[in-house]
Amino acid sequence: MTTKRQHAILLLLLFFCSHTLFSHAADSITEDTVIRDNDGGDNLVSKDLTFEMGFFGLDNNNSSRYVGIWYHEIPVKTFIWVANREKPIKGREGSILIQKSNGNLIVLDGENNEVWSTNMSVPRNNTKAVLRDDGNLVLSEHDKDVWQSFEDPVDTFVPGMALPVSAGTNIFRSWKSETDPSPGNYSMKVDSEGSTKQILILEGEKRRKWRSGYWDGRVFTGVSDVTGSSLFGFTVITDTKGEEYFTYKWNSPEKVRFQITWDGFEKKFVLDADGKQWNRTQFEPFDDCEKYNFCGSFAVCDTGNSPFCSCMEGFEPMHWEEWNNRNWTRGCGRRTPLKAEAERSANNSSSGADREVSVGEDGFLEQRCTKFPDFARLENFVGDADCQRYCLQNTSCTAYSYTIGIGCMIWYGELVDVQHSQNNLGSLLHIRLADADLGDGGKNTKIWIILAVVVGLICIGIVVLLVWRFKRKPKVSSASGFNNNSEIPAFDLTRSTDLSEISGELGLEGNQLSGAELPLFHFSCILAATNNFSDENKLGQGGFGPVYKGKIPGGEDVAVKRLSRKSSQGLEEFKNEMVLIAKLQHRNLVRLLGCCIQGEEKILVYEYLPNKSLDCFLFDPVKQTQLDWAKRFEIIEGIARGLLYLHRDSRLRIIHRDLKASNILLDESMNPKISDFGLARIFGGNQNEANTNRVVGTYGYMSPEYAMEGLFSIKSDVYSFGVLLLEIMSGRKNTSFRDTDDSSLIGYAWHLWSEQRVMELVDPSLGDSIPKTKALRFIQIGMLCVQDSASRRPNMSSVLLMLGSESTALPLPKQPLLTTSMRILDDGESYSEGLDVSNDLTVSMVTTGR
Ligand SMILES: *[C@@H]1O[C@H](CO)[C@@H](O)[C@H](O)[C@H]1NC(C)=O
Ligand SMILES: *[C@@H]1O[C@H](CO)[C@@H](O)[C@H](O)[C@H]1NC(C)=O
Ligand SMILES: *[C@@H]1O[C@H](CO)[C@@H](O)[C@H](O)[C@H]1NC(C)=O
Ligand SMILES: *[C@@H]1O[C@H](CO)[C@@H](O)[C@H](O)[C@H]1NC(C)=O
Ligand SMILES: *[C@@H]1O[C@H](CO)[C@@H](O)[C@H](O)[C@H]1NC(C)=O
Ligand SMILES: *[C@@H]1O[C@H](CO)[C@@H](O)[C@H](O)[C@H]1NC(C)=O
Ligand SMILES: *[C@@H]1O[C@H](CO)[C@@H](O)[C@H](O)[C@H]1NC(C)=O
Ligand SMILES: *[C@@H]1O[C@H](CO)[C@@H](O)[C@H](O)[C@H]1NC(C)=O
Ligand SMILES: *[C@@H]1O[C@H](CO)[C@@H](O)[C@H](O)[C@H]1NC(C)=O
Ligand SMILES: *[C@@H]1O[C@H](CO)[C@@H](O)[C@H](O)[C@H]1NC(C)=O
Repeated sequence: MTTKRQHAILLLLLFFCSHTLFSHAADSITEDTVIRDNDGGDNLVSKDLTFEMGFFGLDNNNSSRYVGIWYHEIPVKTFIWVANREKPIKGREGSILIQKSNGNLIVLDGENNEVWSTNMSVPRNNTKAVLRDDGNLVLSEHDKDVWQSFEDPVDTFVPGMALPVSAGTNIFRSWKSETDPSPGNYSMKVDSEGSTKQILILEGEKRRKWRSGYWDGRVFTGVSDVTGSSLFGFTVITDTKGEEYFTYKWNSPEKVRFQITWDGFEKKFVLDADGKQWNRTQFEPFDDCEKYNFCGSFAVCDTGNSPFCSCMEGFEPMHWEEWNNRNWTRGCGRRTPLKAEAERSANNSSSGADREVSVGEDGFLEQRCTKFPDFARLENFVGDADCQRYCLQNTSCTAYSYTIGIGCMIWYGELVDVQHSQNNLGSLLHIRLADADLGDGGKNTKIWIILAVVVGLICIGIVVLLVWRFKRKPKVSSASGFNNNSEIPAFDLTRSTDLSEISGELGLEGNQLSGAELPLFHFSCILAATNNFSDENKLGQGGFGPVYKGKIPGGEDVAVKRLSRKSSQGLEEFKNEMVLIAKLQHRNLVRLLGCCIQGEEKILVYEYLPNKSLDCFLFDPVKQTQLDWAKRFEIIEGIARGLLYLHRDSRLRIIHRDLKASNILLDESMNPKISDFGLARIFGGNQNEANTNRVVGTYGYMSPEYAMEGLFSIKSDVYSFGVLLLEIMSGRKNTSFRDTDDSSLIGYAWHLWSEQRVMELVDPSLGDSIPKTKALRFIQIGMLCVQDSASRRPNMSSVLLMLGSESTALPLPKQPLLTTSMRILDDGESYSEGLDVSNDLTVSMVTTGR
């Protein structure tokens, strides 16, 4: 008996020893583990050995000990998180453990006083804390996360964090000094006041110290570092509750972090290739123009000017003497008061005497900015004209801008913290000025003439140079395009040498490429990324050419579309078009990341979506079941929103003209994204005309008026949407009906509709997950969209309303005679293009049955 007990004790001891011996490799704390401050012996290390968590001190006398997370393998200890930053532990007797009574992870000092806790309000049983590979310390109860260090950050943002856009939460706060992690004077947060988004650094509680400029859907407009990582870095994601987050996507093995340093600067660090040293890549050097409102109100800061500060046009220094002494604090003021103010003071000064003052209407002057003034308010207007009208009507409006990716921004009162940079085009700000300050153009004409002459000369110079280069080295382009240099040049818009090189190749002006507009990739980079367009990398054949999967330097997976058809446009037009399309930003549109033009090759680089397209799921008997009703509902709504954005909310008012299931791509969480938008603009002739003799589209999705007469409008997209909606509801292809009595899905739907058997149309794999009323309603909306008469079809905003509400009564659809009376050829994915309106197409559309 005793031996047995001894045995057990021995085993237990052994277990305990081995446990403590090897616990340095553990990545988690459970109720039975305690981490002590014993020179790292107990420290947690994440599975992939990237991060380590345990006690550390920043002095040599054990007087202040902290619990934190740092990079495991980097010699210079770099902390991304500190738990007890406010209450350091004196001496080495601290411990980390999980409190059995309530499941909290706590840090105790030598006297067992709690110096830090996860503070969960609800007690939990059997919790476990795991240090994950991304550096996130997560406390979970039965695999349900209940607390994570990423939601309680200190001063560092690392990839993997999701930063809520709505203000208030998740404020980063700097350390007090380099060796003191306690909360310092500077904090960093997302500023979403006025519904624009930007990153803000505050000094103390209120004083603004720096801001990033507004988020335009792709970049922070005021951050000039336009290298690969920032272009493909931040994205905004939306969770199921509609809450928006900034996340950072960085697939490269290089480590990157953003920190608000103790002296109040937002810095981006990238780990050196040899893994020893962090390199700052942003704001080096940090110039005066980055300082908040360095030049004062109504002034512009530009490091290319000397001095940096100048008043906006129509404004002059408030105090000339101070200004000339380079004291910018007072900023600038209006030369001439605005109309409303002039009238007001005229009424006063005339004090009753009826003296008429005639003041001209206020107007606007353009100013290019890389950083728009602070405190913009986003107003719900579409288009420059409406935005301007709104600004003119409100006498306190001082400026407006209608910027793609952001929308209609309005400024009231003073314009502060405005920046312009010569090597970045920026966007247009329209500043309100009194009539008298507008007619100022006369003295500028001379400058313009001189400028025009100079530009002209430069252009001639470039042409001469190009001709000369071309003559000397006739094979230079093909040689450089395919050389097997191991170092692949990607693209880097900030390096001036590259810029001129690209400009040379394209014959474009240098400044057209600058800014965050559209990155151009070298052809060699595309070749390397797609493994010379190898068949293994081919994802499929889209309407405008084959699509390949690629991996560009920086680690991003991309989809590369090699346009196979000759566009009717010239190079310049094509480029301009791509810049416009790249600016279309919506969560239901596929992001265009850049393009590549070399000789005849025109290549578009898109974000890569792992789940392929909707048709792969919808028409596959097995995968079909993955799309339950909730998912399909989200997909339908997403497509409708994306389409509405194209039709109405984007400045370009794009008609897609080739909407179909295979053009709807799905992201990781199966959110739909419309692809190939805008391409019809390039290939389909003149977008402004409602009639085209080149029809781009796919049989089965083409509205009758478009297919037969080449007439297109936003209502042709509504038609395609209707077909798509019916396909999603039924899980069947529109064109899969050739062997049945019905001509098409639309015909079949109408047939069931007229016999009140619509529920038979609903995809059986949806089972009971779909409420009957919803099913009927959605099919009815689909039927409304595919009516013959374009004018009877609802527009996308009504469609969205109908989809969203339960209560509004729907009109009754009219029988789609044109579509149902003709049989649609199932040409698979084949396209009709370049056909003349009157002959082949209509003939092929109306085929007599077999
Ligand atoms: C510990 O060292 C730091 C500097 O390294 C010093 O400021 C502090 O006073 C020392 N504390 C004690 C208790 O000696
Ligand atoms: C700090 O603590 C460690 C471990 O307890 C001890 O070895 C070391 O001598 C202490 N250092 C000082 C300066 O007290
Ligand atoms: C936990 O609550 C205490 C007291 O309310 C507070 O001082 C401490 O900062 C909180 N800790 C965390 C990590 O929120
Ligand atoms: C924890 O466990 C106890 C008993 O084991 C149980 O009474 C209590 O409800 C549990 N609490 C939670 C939050 O699950
Ligand atoms: C932080 O603010 C306090 C009070 O405003 C000031 O005394 C201190 O010097 C500031 N610290 C830093 C690092 O700027
Ligand atoms: C980091 O900086 C060092 C020295 O300044 C330089 O040699 C190295 O190339 C840089 N690394 C990166 C990745 O920029
Ligand atoms: C700049 O002018 C302001 C008054 O507008 C004054 O308070 C400040 O001291 C001046 N700064 C310098 C450096 O002279
Ligand atoms: C100023 O007086 C004119 C005529 O008396 C009147 O039409 C106008 O509205 C007044 N303006 C303001 C701002 O009071
Ligand atoms: C007009 O006069 C009133 C009172 O006489 C004064 O309060 C107001 O500031 C004056 N407005 C202007 C623009 O001068
Ligand atoms: C101008 O807009 C501001 C802010 O929306 C509002 O408070 C103010 O009343 C408006 N003024 C006029 C004259 O419409």
